[in-house]
Amino acid sequence: MTTTAPQEAFLQAFHAEYPAVTAEAFGRGHAPDGRSSYAILCDRVVGSMRVLDLGCGDGLLLELLARSPGRQLAGVDLSSHSLALARRRPALSEAKLEEGRAQELPFADDSFDACVSHMALMLMSDIEQVAAEVARVLSPGGVLACVVGGGAVGGEAVGGEAYERFLTLLRRTIEETPAERRIPALGDRRTRGREGLDEVLGPAGFAAVDWETIPIDLSGPVEQVWAAVSSLYDLGPLDRATVELLRKTFFVEVRDMTTSDGVVPCAFKIHLATARLR
Ligand SMILES: C[S@@+](CC[C@H](N)C(=O)[O-])C[C@H]1O[C@@H](n2cnc3c(N)ncnc32)[C@H](O)[C@@H]1O
Repeated sequence: MTTTAPQEAFLQAFHAEYPAVTAEAFGRGHAPDGRSSYAILCDRVVGSMRVLDLGCGDGLLLELLARSPGRQLAGVDLSSHSLALARRRPALSEAKLEEGRAQELPFADDSFDACVSHMALMLMSDIEQVAAEVARVLSPGGVLACVVGGGAVGGEAVGGEAYERFLTLLRRTIEETPAERRIPALGDRRTRGREGLDEVLGPAGFAAVDWETIPIDLSGPVEQVWAAVSSLYDLGPLDRATVELLRKTFFVEVRDMTTSDGVVPCAFKIHLATARLR
């Protein structure tokens, strides 16, 4: 596979080192109704038998989808290392797992009833081309359902503060970091908002996006919360000493909000977007 952009080279290098980072960080997170963000996405495509996961990573979402018998599943990802983990999942022994770019999907026209994507669409450059490719491989009436990151939850929601504090520390760290240790700008901001996504998907033939914002609770012991928040790409290029200082500062910062049984309340938002091909 040829990589066309420094952004994609960065993503490949990052996931060569951390091939399952997203699933490890967010797999145990849960919405107010108890479902993980992966399970929420899965529930959006109940009844779709041919499903493609765009940016499937280590295959956690595909494994959940495989619980419905008879499904034909496929996943595509830039990262050979993440795909290697997906291929090890027994539930995915029949799935087509392809190393490739969402901008050039290695599938025939009309191959799928649904396309899902968890925390990946917002990283993709040339997003109009991705939208056109998704429309091409979906059958008429097919559904695109994706989860994109939405940042910290508002101050009124329990747990938003810990994430906010982490982001403030991270911003400060990055400001002090030499340019060569900063990540390239990733993706297209329009994918993070309803109007922007409509602007991208509409011309590819999708009807208006259904948009929902959901808080995801990541509360737990401080080590666990740190593992989740520190999974952000921005930490990838930082040197060990800088990450260690960030970790220590975060531990101090959240001490005052830690409950008597050692839980740091932490939450972030996801946006769940669904659009049907006309
Ligand atoms: C944050 S990870 C999420 C992985 C997985 N969906 C999950 O939530 O566990 C984003 C994934 O999208 C993949 N990705 C990003 N841009 C891509 C592109 N243009 N084509 C295919 N995969 C891409 C990355 O390689 C990475 O595995």
